[in-house]
Amino acid sequence: MRVRDCVLPSRPMPGLLVTLEGIDRSGKTTQSRLLCEALGDVAVAVREPGGTVVGERVRELLKDPAAEIGAEAEALLFAAARAELTARVIRPALEEGRVVVSDRFLDSSLAYQGSARGLGIDEVARINRWATADLMPDLTVLLELDPDAAAGRGGEEDRFEAEGAALQRQVLAGYRELAAAEPARWARIDADRPREQVHADVLRAVREVMAVAGEPAGAA
Ligand code: TYD
Repeated sequence: MRVRDCVLPSRPMPGLLVTLEGIDRSGKTTQSRLLCEALGDVAVAVREPGGTVVGERVRELLKDPAAEIGAEAEALLFAAARAELTARVIRPALEEGRVVVSDRFLDSSLAYQGSARGLGIDEVARINRWATADLMPDLTVLLELDPDAAAGRGGEEDRFEAEGAALQRQVLAGYRELAAAEPARWARIDADRPREQVHADVLRAVREVMAVAGEPAGAA
């Protein structure tokens, strides 16, 4: 077998990959849940980092405020968790024609590690292309919220939030740069509104992409 034969096919695959992105506490988890409920059985919910045995362990390590992790190792750990999730859960679901809704994906690494941590978006994209065999989202929703408003939402801080508003501002700037570079893939949505209003916009964006792809529109 030649090396080339071992490389996973990228697309086309029948399903759709929808990713939700935003700074910490921008409401991604709530919006992922509402979206999956609205889409019904066709939807498969995943979260990053996590969703596999390796991914959940990596998540614990990455979120531990006591763990000292260098920026490069951090980027590689996220990519390792993503490689597992992509190969074991996301690709098989896409092959079945499902709509995979991922609470964070590739763009989190580009915004947090590439932009905010200063590793460089291109470098971080390169390791992730390798980790996921070039899997790209069909649609990425950016839930836009000012870091001060996000901080005001309360809850316990993890190691990224503990680094304060400056990091979150850089992350948001990174996301905006990514969205501007690839406007056809991104839907920017104002997340500083009641969650039902935000949900309506998220669902509309997803249904538009499903209609173009000829997917079933789901329940509700
Ligand atoms: P998470 O529980 O997803 O945070 P939240 O629910 O507040 O969004 O925690 C994951 C943390 O890891 C979050 O601070 C963002 C960060 N992260 C990265 O830095 N790079 C990545 O590639 C991913 C997936 C997450």
